[in-house]
Amino acid sequence: MAKNTAQRGGFGGKLTAILAAAGSAIGLGNIWRFPYITSEHGGGAFIFIYLGCILLLGLPLLIAEFAVGHNSKCNPIDAFSKIRKGWGWLGAMGLISVFLIMGYYFVISGWTLNYAIASATETIGDDFGGFFTSFTTATWMPLLFTYIFIIANHLIIVGGVQGGIERASKVLMPLLFAILIVLAVYSLWLPEGREALGEVFTPDFSKVTGKTFLDAMGQAFFTLSVGMGAMLIYGSYFKEGTKIAGTAISVVSLDTLVAIIAAVIIFSAGVQNESGMQLAFVAMPKVFSAMPAGNIWAMLFFLLLGLAALSSTISMHEAVTSYFVEKRGMSRNKGALIVTVGAMLLATVASLSLGAWSGFTVAGMNIFALLDNFTAIVMLPLLGILTSIFVGWIWRKEDMRAELTAQGSVDKATYPFVRFLLKWVCPVLVSTLFIFGIIDFIKSL
Ligand code: TRP
Repeated sequence: MAKNTAQRGGFGGKLTAILAAAGSAIGLGNIWRFPYITSEHGGGAFIFIYLGCILLLGLPLLIAEFAVGHNSKCNPIDAFSKIRKGWGWLGAMGLISVFLIMGYYFVISGWTLNYAIASATETIGDDFGGFFTSFTTATWMPLLFTYIFIIANHLIIVGGVQGGIERASKVLMPLLFAILIVLAVYSLWLPEGREALGEVFTPDFSKVTGKTFLDAMGQAFFTLSVGMGAMLIYGSYFKEGTKIAGTAISVVSLDTLVAIIAAVIIFSAGVQNESGMQLAFVAMPKVFSAMPAGNIWAMLFFLLLGLAALSSTISMHEAVTSYFVEKRGMSRNKGALIVTVGAMLLATVASLSLGAWSGFTVAGMNIFALLDNFTAIVMLPLLGILTSIFVGWIWRKEDMRAELTAQGSVDKATYPFVRFLLKWVCPVLVSTLFIFGIIDFIKSL
């Protein structure tokens, strides 16, 4: 049973609530995933479609998740069942998914730490691909950095909502923005940077296919952290009187801005044809090494990635921790410890699956790739469909309206629009793309 809500923590300010939620959204998804997916799909055209997905699907789903959390003031499982009995499984599905994401996300987060240090101390050498492969397939070093990262998470989480998450966000986010601005000013100062800006915004519609829409939707969901209980739990910590839609719009704007700036920085380095992990960890260090004071720039870049990853992973951790605290009646310290140990175990398997245990595969994928693909292709869209159905069709209309408009005092004009998107547009569009995504994936096996 949920604990007395009076004992729950909460964010102290509305602005810091935005910072924390933006911290969840802004992560590895913005800084390395967005730029390479954009370039794979022809720059501007992809961004155009992506913005459509953000506005029509991502934003309403974020509003929905904040609303469910804020309305029920509970952990993700109780939140759904409090609004409609028998729907707790939807919260549980989100928590399982976010735990699976933690498994591989923590591993990449650990790499950023190693790369920041190796850049500062100039120990990467000049075989960038070789360094990446030998580091990531090694047994102990990547585990060490991953554990350090998970322990940092743990320390923030046991500090509580205000003393841990909110306080960390107030430091991490301004630092992240500062580094991003420094890197962006530097790239725009180079002629390549201004060219990149043009490239990012020049649409090439000849490269648009069905897959473009699929990837744009997947990226929109991933980058906004929707469907997994993380935004729900943050919504549950919003103060009374917080404008749900307004907060969501701020979070989406910050997230989009960071993604576009990151794309400009990376395009200006001329590495857009590299994809996946290779982009951030192989191509970027190579570019930096050719610049004056390159090791400093490289260190800043990996610090940026690491800070973004940290502010995202604390929301993942918090979502699962809240379950142990509120549903299992544990102390915050004990609940957080269980999540920390669980994440360490899964991350260990994920990290080793790139090296020592790479022989073990399912459908041709190692565990690391399996966690990534399963959550991105199956769970994210599925949770998007179910959440929109829940809010659009299952939640009593009057109650949902009261929550979204703060008892009829705000957002009265936008409410019908949000409701329409959640009731019709999200379920229909996401289901269509989901089915195509699964077919596409099966064909690719
Ligand atoms: N939004 C994060 C990023 O862009 C990744 C993410 C996906 C996430 N799902 C999440 C973060 C759930 C926290 C909770 O990197």
